[in-house]
Amino acid sequence: MFERLATLPADPILGLMSLFRNDPNPRKVDLGVGVYKNEQGETPVLASVHEAEKRLLARQTSKVYVGPAGNVTFNAAMSALLLGPSTALAEGRFVAVQTPGGCGALRVAAELVKTANPSAAIWVSDPTWGNHIPLLGNAGLTIRQYPYFDAATSAVNFDAMMASLAQVKAGDLVLLHGCCHNPSGADLSPEQWRRVAALALETGFTPFVDMAYQGFADDLETDAYGLRYLIDHLPEVVVAASCSKNFGVYRDRVGLVGLLSESPASAQAAMSHMLSIVRGIYSMPPDHGAALVAEVLTDPQLRQRWEAEVAEMRGRINDLRERFSSAMQVRLGSDRFDFVKRQKGMFSFLGLSETQVLQLRSEYGIYMLNSARASIAGFNATNMDYVCDAIAEVVSV
Ligand code: LMR
Repeated sequence: MFERLATLPADPILGLMSLFRNDPNPRKVDLGVGVYKNEQGETPVLASVHEAEKRLLARQTSKVYVGPAGNVTFNAAMSALLLGPSTALAEGRFVAVQTPGGCGALRVAAELVKTANPSAAIWVSDPTWGNHIPLLGNAGLTIRQYPYFDAATSAVNFDAMMASLAQVKAGDLVLLHGCCHNPSGADLSPEQWRRVAALALETGFTPFVDMAYQGFADDLETDAYGLRYLIDHLPEVVVAASCSKNFGVYRDRVGLVGLLSESPASAQAAMSHMLSIVRGIYSMPPDHGAALVAEVLTDPQLRQRWEAEVAEMRGRINDLRERFSSAMQVRLGSDRFDFVKRQKGMFSFLGLSETQVLQLRSEYGIYMLNSARASIAGFNATNMDYVCDAIAEVVSV
């Protein structure tokens, strides 16, 4: 039967990782996959996580099964990180389970929505992260898109977004990026979040927030503003969170799916379905990464160290955004790339054509997605001038 299968093209993001690894060019620069890199181009284990790992190793005496909900200390600590001081949490209207990464969270949420309302559509931003549509659509839900990013202004086209969301049916879900929109770097303002919440109340759609970069835009609290506002003002909200970036535990696959429901009883009923979905797909999540995150979040010293590390990663990315914009200003004598310093998080679209992107790849060994999405943390003092010269070269032809 496998003879009937044709080979699929590589995933656009993961495929680019291997193209980069196999490129012998000594000057190659990776602005592709969204992983944080330090000034040396490394993605280190955070010191706070490393310390948690040492402690865990010293005291762990058993690796017996945990259960479909995963690590309950992690679930409580992550829910508090996401929601802050929250009446919904205190009242038991928010429930959450640990998942294998943010991807697992998105998929469990989609399966739950499919169970609760099989005809629901999930509306995703245009553009959105490349894996959103497969992850959610493969659960069997209809995927629809709403306009989000305006390439002409490199900002959110909020009027078009709201006009489209006004058409969403009650019972559908609208996927919103909590902060650091992937791929555009263009985020909603607090006022825009409030208007989305008002529209959700009016039309009856359920916001579904993907929080993969908390702490990478402004700070851990400000980045959660939109999610927290929705939780405080709406009867139902779904959230999928990832610890890959802000804890640097990419390969350990640590995430959380949570939901707000109208009553503690309906939240518990939804929880029982989430547990059954988990049992039916992967039985239970891996514990190690979640145990590290739980240790970091619940130990005051480790938490302080971690918050400083998140601030350092964020500061470096924001600094690189400034440096890139100024370097391009000097080269082009124009503010064409100034939007990069106004955007947030790991990514920006550099506004290059696919031909220019491929030219950067083949002639200079500079890797970004074909859409010109660049992972800003891939810049450093050694490659900044090289990349800026190359971009100036390809856009000037
Ligand atoms: C990205 O967008 O590059 C990251 O979220 C990594 C991934 O899995 O795609």
